[in-house]
Amino acid sequence: MEDIYKNDFEKFLSHTDEKEILLNEVSKEIEKYNTKSLLDIGAGNGLLSIPLSKKVGSYLAVEPKEKFVAKLRGAGLEVIEGKFPFEISGSFDMALSSHSMSYQKDLIVPFIRKAWELVKPGGVFLIITYRGQEDDWTKLMKGLGENHEDQNRVGFNQIVELLASLGDVKMRKVITRVNTENLDDIVQALSFVASDGKPEKKKEFLKQSGKLEKILKQNYKNNYGYYFPFQHFFLTTQKL
Ligand SMILES: C[S@@+](CC[C@H](N)C(=O)[O-])C[C@H]1O[C@@H](n2cnc3c(N)ncnc32)[C@H](O)[C@@H]1O
Repeated sequence: MEDIYKNDFEKFLSHTDEKEILLNEVSKEIEKYNTKSLLDIGAGNGLLSIPLSKKVGSYLAVEPKEKFVAKLRGAGLEVIEGKFPFEISGSFDMALSSHSMSYQKDLIVPFIRKAWELVKPGGVFLIITYRGQEDDWTKLMKGLGENHEDQNRVGFNQIVELLASLGDVKMRKVITRVNTENLDDIVQALSFVASDGKPEKKKEFLKQSGKLEKILKQNYKNNYGYYFPFQHFFLTTQKL
């Protein structure tokens, strides 16, 4: 199962500009807030976190997956292995959670509260999440008969509400795209997103490939092949 996930994930990565764009956009926030120290919660496999760590004077990652921890440490990064939230000594100019926060309300609250505690006065908490307004993905899922939109919006609104009780929240959208030359590759890439790499869910999703292909041909085809946009929300809250 791990190998299937790895394969699908690598295929997905080979067709998306996500890491490049996120790196560029987070770097802008780092510069804007004069960030010298960064706490990267849910640092992942290093594609984003390793180049990010080079943009700041001091960098600390939190990551529960053993394999990723080994990779990050192998690249010379300081990593605490574990699932946030837990006690961490020190404070940071920026706490970052890029696609690492759960949807569940009982997990959202302690995660945000602890991350906020770890931000220095004058520093920022940056959350990057897909959840939010209706976008091409929620429309596509609706077209396929799956409606996750409300659940997403509930989670997103809870995050924004809690952040707003802590400080001034700035919100902006960043769009990344999956681009492929042929239909099969885009179907595979989207099936990875829909299933989060889980083979059973992927099978279910691919049962709809007839409908999916029709939607893609009608709406997401250009001269180069196929594309699909993903909407990321950057929520930045500054601690005054
Ligand atoms: C989708 S990846 C994002 C990686 C990277 N931040 C990025 O944006 O490219 C999410 C990562 O968050 C980690 N994660 C999930 N829950 C977490 C938690 N409670 N605390 C810390 N990391 C967590 C996962 O292990 C995974 O590596």
